[in-house]
Amino acid sequence: MAPLLTGKRFRPERYHYYPLLDSSNQQAALLAQQGADEGTVVVAEQQSQGRGRLGRPWSSPAGINLYCSLLLRPAIAARHAAQLTLVAGLALWHTAQEWGVQGCELKWPNDLLLQGRKAAGILTEMRAEGEKTQYVIVGIGVNLNGGRTDLPPELQAQAIHLAEALPAPIERSRFLAALLQQWETWYDRYQTSGFAPLATLWQQAARLPGRRVQIRLAEGSFAGEAVTLDADGCLLVKRGDGMLTRVVAGDVTLLGEG
Ligand code: BTN
Repeated sequence: MAPLLTGKRFRPERYHYYPLLDSSNQQAALLAQQGADEGTVVVAEQQSQGRGRLGRPWSSPAGINLYCSLLLRPAIAARHAAQLTLVAGLALWHTAQEWGVQGCELKWPNDLLLQGRKAAGILTEMRAEGEKTQYVIVGIGVNLNGGRTDLPPELQAQAIHLAEALPAPIERSRFLAALLQQWETWYDRYQTSGFAPLATLWQQAARLPGRRVQIRLAEGSFAGEAVTLDADGCLLVKRGDGMLTRVVAGDVTLLGEG
């Protein structure tokens, strides 16, 4: 997979392709520790231990999907690093739009859904010293060209590939180049103005306000109505009793329209 890299961060000399990795996030972290620059991109054709959020595995067969990790060295406080997941979501959603995939939406904090099923996920990992961010790895896995039988049985009902909404397969290196270009745009906007101006755009791509959601937190679950994303990227949810809860980290299930 050899994308045409023309951005100011993502240059050919910072592009690392591997036929097989345990995890592209793992490899990107290794390169980061060896001093690699912001804009380093790691792509794996296949991952033996692809990882998702909350310790879940990420199914990573060869030949059909995209598994990539971006190394960033942003001058942001460590507590803001999770916002980069949301920035990546915007880049992904716009790439899918640009490709003509109809019916995509974001799900807080890290999913791209197509027809209500998961087509892509983002795993952001970081190293910090105190509040100072050393580096951030944004790992993006996109189901592109497979079909139902390419998914593990337990995911067949809840996952999907983007090309299932298109008449032809998606050329992976072109998709990656488009994604990196979108990333440049959204990351530049984020670095210039912070997350607050992006929050409205993000919630539009998630069709957020008014959605019924189930929130699973470490300390328990509750249902409510998604109200908005705040300027920090946290999800505000109104519970049945009218109380507003600010969700900083959690797992969301969409329950349908409110
Ligand atoms: C999730 O939805 O839980 C996040 C999934 C992230 C998967 C990608 S694939 C490329 C990168 N390498 C990994 O091991 N994980 C991320």
